[in-house]
Amino acid sequence: MSTPAPSAASLYADHLATLQARAATALERAGLEHLVIPSGTLHYQVFDDRDYPYAVNPQFKAWLPLTRNPGSWLIVTPGARPKLVYLQPRDYWHVVPEAPSGYWVEHFDIVVIRKPEEAQQHLPKNAARCAILGEPQSALGHYGAYKANNPPAVVDHLDYHRAFKTPYELTMLREASRRGVRAHAAAERAFRAGASEFGIHLAYCQAAGQDANELPYGNIVALNEHAAVLHYTELGRLPPDPVRSFLIDAGASHAGYAADITRTYAADTASEFQAMIEAVDTAQQAMVAQVRSGADYKQLHLDAHLALAGVLREFGLIKVSPEAALATGISAAFFPHGLGHGIGLQVHDVAGFAASETGGVIAKPEGHPFLRLTRVLEPGMVVTIEPGIYVIDMLLEDLKAAGHGDSIDWDRIDAFRPYGGIRIEDDVVCTGDAPENLTRDAWAAENTI
Ligand code: GLY
Ligand code: MN
Repeated sequence: MSTPAPSAASLYADHLATLQARAATALERAGLEHLVIPSGTLHYQVFDDRDYPYAVNPQFKAWLPLTRNPGSWLIVTPGARPKLVYLQPRDYWHVVPEAPSGYWVEHFDIVVIRKPEEAQQHLPKNAARCAILGEPQSALGHYGAYKANNPPAVVDHLDYHRAFKTPYELTMLREASRRGVRAHAAAERAFRAGASEFGIHLAYCQAAGQDANELPYGNIVALNEHAAVLHYTELGRLPPDPVRSFLIDAGASHAGYAADITRTYAADTASEFQAMIEAVDTAQQAMVAQVRSGADYKQLHLDAHLALAGVLREFGLIKVSPEAALATGISAAFFPHGLGHGIGLQVHDVAGFAASETGGVIAKPEGHPFLRLTRVLEPGMVVTIEPGIYVIDMLLEDLKAAGHGDSIDWDRIDAFRPYGGIRIEDDVVCTGDAPENLTRDAWAAENTI
């Protein structure tokens, strides 16, 4: 019998201890005494009384699995128990947050307030001794001295280390992946049943149990040529006729952590497009296998160009070698985004370019402006691996204008254009050993249900 996985409750105490140690170092570096983190406030539409969907301050949800609590504050002082000032307003217009409950509560001194302005009396007296991490336009402005100062020495340290997930965070990410995969499976069923993009999106949300505001980013649900628009979020109300292909890039959230998953399907599973999906899938799995401690993500990105150019050549879209395709920018016209990014509390996690815990930037390779991660991988990092191939006429015209028209087989481009593109994306943990593929593990579990 296998031992049961440790519970979130048992892992949370160690997670909190890790964050406290990071905070202590960060504050010491900055010569400050307290970390003060507002959960954030509601934002209103201009000339209107409608609020935008609330987005919690990521610095706040790093400490607490609370994503729907505007107006609360966290105060961390090295050597003391962390303090939570918890806003539970008297409000008969809205459902207000429940009284604090859950595995995290016992680790905090909690003060419940009824009005946002009551927070001030519970914050450290001397704001000049505080690193106040938040947004400039938030209600912090109402608190006189309590304005966000976001000291770089503190933010750089916390952000750099946020790349290294604690066992608690990995548990949260696994759960987000399971939820996302369950919804992906429902989306494929809706696609095979002939649903529109909008219908597939609704099937996805239903299976995820999350609506658009709870998902970590706007669902990309693209049929046919729409798959060539990297961030296509239009959600067409009618299915095209015929339906040829389906690209879905959609995630799920769990306790503030994100999954980010992309799959591509052919309507005709005997088609050449299906074969190309399988070739990209095979290449993608080889890329995932390179998520190893010590691997330079920049190099993985460049290697991905070579692998994808190999697929383009195999299927006859380009006539040059992978090396020539990379050197001339031909591969970048078909694969015009980065191989992936860090993922965690934010779908595009912070500090992708951080050179060290004290700052500095690791530059992107020249000619690759959309790469979001340039760090060397180490155990605990979680990254996406999301290679893609698209027929994007705008970029192909640029290639032609640059004199590379002869390197392209335009008849083959015409054959693939109606399918839009292919992207396959998994979330992968770098360990001290073989990588852990959160997405494929969740898929294997889904398929055994
Ligand atoms: N899932 C969308 C992106 O990574 O940009
Ligand atoms: Mn992604």
